[in-house]
Amino acid sequence: MDALVIEGGRPLRGSVQIGAAKNAVLPLMAAALLAGGESHLRRIPKLADVRTLGLLLEHLGARVRPDNGGLLIDAAAVDGREAPYELVKTMRASVLVLGPLVARFGRARVSLPGGCAIGARPINLHLKGLEAMGAEVVLEHGYVDVRALRLRGARIVLDIPTVTGTENLMMAAALADGTTVIENAAREPEVEDLAACLIAMGARIRGAGSAVLEIDGVDALIPFDHTPIPDRIEAGTLMAAAALCDGDITLVGARLDHLDAFVVKLREAGAEVTDLGGQRVRVVSGQRRCGVDLRTSPHPGFPTDMQAQFMALMCKGTGTSVITEKVFENRFMHVSELSRMGADITVEGASAMVRGVAQLSGARVMATDLRASAALVLAGLAAEGATTVSRVYHLDRGYEALEVKLGALGAQIERIKE
Ligand code: EPZ
Repeated sequence: MDALVIEGGRPLRGSVQIGAAKNAVLPLMAAALLAGGESHLRRIPKLADVRTLGLLLEHLGARVRPDNGGLLIDAAAVDGREAPYELVKTMRASVLVLGPLVARFGRARVSLPGGCAIGARPINLHLKGLEAMGAEVVLEHGYVDVRALRLRGARIVLDIPTVTGTENLMMAAALADGTTVIENAAREPEVEDLAACLIAMGARIRGAGSAVLEIDGVDALIPFDHTPIPDRIEAGTLMAAAALCDGDITLVGARLDHLDAFVVKLREAGAEVTDLGGQRVRVVSGQRRCGVDLRTSPHPGFPTDMQAQFMALMCKGTGTSVITEKVFENRFMHVSELSRMGADITVEGASAMVRGVAQLSGARVMATDLRASAALVLAGLAAEGATTVSRVYHLDRGYEALEVKLGALGAQIERIKE
């Protein structure tokens, strides 16, 4: 397995290119199943999750080919209906093929994704929405079998604004008979990007980015040619690194408007964040202050995917910060590893109290999930001495060559085989 070895204490300087958003690309790849032709994603990140979903689409009969930094997906010959456990267990977002398969072919059989390190992560709301649209849903042997001669429009009220649930149901509704209204829909930029792509395919969708989506079903959709939005979580992660490591960096290809809540907190922590225009953002570490409190919540609130990285930022300095995780039930796996680096963190239920310390010390630590890995890398960049982060396959699921980007900014970081 790969590990990253980091010699902390280096300032970060220079500019860095932000890649296409993983959490936009995955639903967009699934959306290609809705059309009987070849769709084109103009940019994709080189990530394990993208490769896994590509394998699943091929398993279903699609032809998936790289194209000049992007991806061509021809779904004309799709004849499979099953997403097998072997693929789904490694990547939960495989559940995103459910809506498109039922919408276009009337049937899908998808392995239940099961839980992961950060929580149980059920898909009950995805299934309730499909049932409301007339689908028959049967759970057996660890799989969910969904059938419908043709989905029909319905009014769906989501208990929770689930991101992939909203995406699955929006894709299903695009080919349903009649109008579907989804209330309490997710408002993430990635949901908006998927809606824009579906509309370009011929879907009739209103309200994307708001909590109420209206979708008038159509009989068929055409393939898309789409450029995904930049990865706001990669951008946020690098901004937090700059704030933590005496940085002065410029992000190229970043959408500051996708990170409002995070930037408010980063500025409260003393960083200077400047929109240079043309999707370029400058971040200077400034006079760091700790003691910034936050609660994660669905967009436009503070993103849960930035919680671990912001905690790493709060570990070094003065003051006490209370960080409350309201989206997932077990997203503090990074706390014990940060504590091994000298952080002073007390967890009480859904909240973690972080008392800033003058210095973190390098140590051997272990990644447990995607964003926890990023938090450990950030802490290693700021720590005194060497840090080894093991099991970085977790990191590789969501960041394309993060060590290369950080190294180009002046960090001393290298990937080794353990
Ligand atoms: C998406 O996951 C993202 N993944 C996650 O990013 C992100 O953390 C999450 O949204 C929240 O923003 C992708 O987009 C591929 P949810 P998703 O359904 O859709 C509960 C990363 O680090 N829930 O919005 O699976 C659920 O348990 C990953 O890039 C139900 O109870 O998240 C959770 O507590 C991690 N029933 C809450 O809702 C359901 O049917 C939010 O989950 C669905 C969800």
